[in-house]
Amino acid sequence: MGVVMVDVNAVTKDYRMGKIMVPALRGINLTIASGEMVAIMGPSGSGKSTLMNILGCLDRPTAGTYKLHKEEVSEKSDSQLAEIRNRKVGFIFQSFNLLEQLTALENVELPLIYRGLGAGSRRDRAKSALVRLGLEDRLHHRPQELSGGQQQRVAIARAVAAQPELVLADEPTGALDSRSGEEILAVFQELHAQGITVIVVTHDPNVARHCQRIVRLADGVVIADDLVRPEDYLVAQEVLTTLPALPEGGVKA
Ligand SMILES: Nc1ncnc2c1ncn2[C@@H]1O[C@H](COP(=O)(O)OP(=O)(O)OP(=O)(O)O)[C@@H](O)[C@H]1O
Ligand SMILES: [Mg+2]
Repeated sequence: MGVVMVDVNAVTKDYRMGKIMVPALRGINLTIASGEMVAIMGPSGSGKSTLMNILGCLDRPTAGTYKLHKEEVSEKSDSQLAEIRNRKVGFIFQSFNLLEQLTALENVELPLIYRGLGAGSRRDRAKSALVRLGLEDRLHHRPQELSGGQQQRVAIARAVAAQPELVLADEPTGALDSRSGEEILAVFQELHAQGITVIVVTHDPNVARHCQRIVRLADGVVIADDLVRPEDYLVAQEVLTTLPALPEGGVKA
């Protein structure tokens, strides 16, 4: 393995519910190299989102260690975690998590404030991320004026504008029709081709086939970790040619 991006060792996570401790992760060991594209699968409640939150420095393990690109993050303070997250991680959620009152451009600009960029370079970066995602004529639309697929592309632009090393997506295509979902997967495969490490949580085996490797969780442990066979691997751009096009780019009226 080349440079290690994600190094998880004996990680556990317990959630406290009053007097009860809910064990969500029960000893995860996982190593992901820089530049890999990995799917995480497993039944509901198996700990996928809990693991993603730890990988993305939104939360800390109860026990065990987590190194993100050689940096030990288990022991960091909240503000140190936030700093690492802003610098290294882009998050994409199933429900897009865009701010309704802001335009596409403003949504993408927002996290760049925390990167200490000036207003001009924030705007330039945000605009070029949106252009890369095919949204040059939607810069000033608010989320409710965009289709689901377009909203998810805004969310990806927001995640990648800060040039993260690690992109984490939790069910990014779950709320989308099959064509919009495939377009999102094409974007992830493009990020992967650029050398960015991409981790995608999915319930859908066909989404997982767009990754190089599939890690399966059950009851808070890794139960399988396999490379996708070349004959099973799906290239999103090729799948897109087999799907019917949407009228006028599928833009919601
Ligand atoms: N904030 C919390 N407080 C208490 N228990 C929690 C909390 N978050 C998650 N859990 C519990 O931890 C376990 C793992 O939850 P997690 O959200 O990681 O599952 P998941 O694999 O992402 O499921 P899904 O596929 O439904 O999104 C579940 O049993 C869940 O009920
Ligand atoms: Mg989840």
